[in-house]
Amino acid sequence: LARGPLGRDLAGRHVVVSAGGTREALDPVRFLGNRSSGIQGYALARTAVARGARVTLVSANVGLPDPAGATVVRVESAEQMRSAVLEAAGNADAVVMAAAVADFRPAEYRDAKIKKVAGAGPEPIHLVKNPDILAELGARPHPGQVVVGFAAETHDVLANGREKLARKGADLLVVNQVGEDLTFGRPDNAAVVLAAEGDPVEVPRGPKEDLADVVWDLVVARLKPISG
Ligand code: CTP
Ligand code: CA
Repeated sequence: LARGPLGRDLAGRHVVVSAGGTREALDPVRFLGNRSSGIQGYALARTAVARGARVTLVSANVGLPDPAGATVVRVESAEQMRSAVLEAAGNADAVVMAAAVADFRPAEYRDAKIKKVAGAGPEPIHLVKNPDILAELGARPHPGQVVVGFAAETHDVLANGREKLARKGADLLVVNQVGEDLTFGRPDNAAVVLAAEGDPVEVPRGPKEDLADVVWDLVVARLKPISG
């Protein structure tokens, strides 16, 4: 596989990248969240800018500097991320969902801080399902758009990845093994990229920028020629 950055092979393209991890509010001071650092998504945004793309980065709770040249849209929750991603995706050539989107959110948001009640145990937290943004894009509202997902798996990495790629309707699924500090918050990553059409591509452990460039190589190979 030819590896980027190979010049401005995303020039004239609009790409959307989601990054970070959503927070699902319980009350004004508490949320359910996850450990996504946003490093991989920000690397995807930076490398896409370097390759000439117009980049919309939908960023959930990331403490990293804005990538120069990208339009950054800040969101907190999965529902906010859905609105921002779907809006930006309307005219996008590719969407890469690198964010860790919470599968569930608290069924009810309490306007006032939840307090302990003397003598009573904790109230259970009821959850409801969040929308699946990647699956919505995988249902192809925008024909020709290249749709990329990420999956973090702790076991049966390839089998789970294959099933997820098919279930989401994505063109590409970047699968990494997580657990024991293999991915979260680290600058490097190892992964296998599964394709709906084409062979899997193994990406050896290296900087998250290198994985990002492999993803863009595979995206570029799937883009329709620019008409005009
Ligand atoms: N994703 C999404 N919306 C959700 C959940 C996940 O868009 N509500 C996207 C993620 O951004 C990622 C991909 O789907 O690109 C896979 O996420 P993952 O959590 O691995 O998939 P799930 O279908 O939620 O499966 P699991 O039960 O393993 O968490
Ligand atoms: Ca999930």
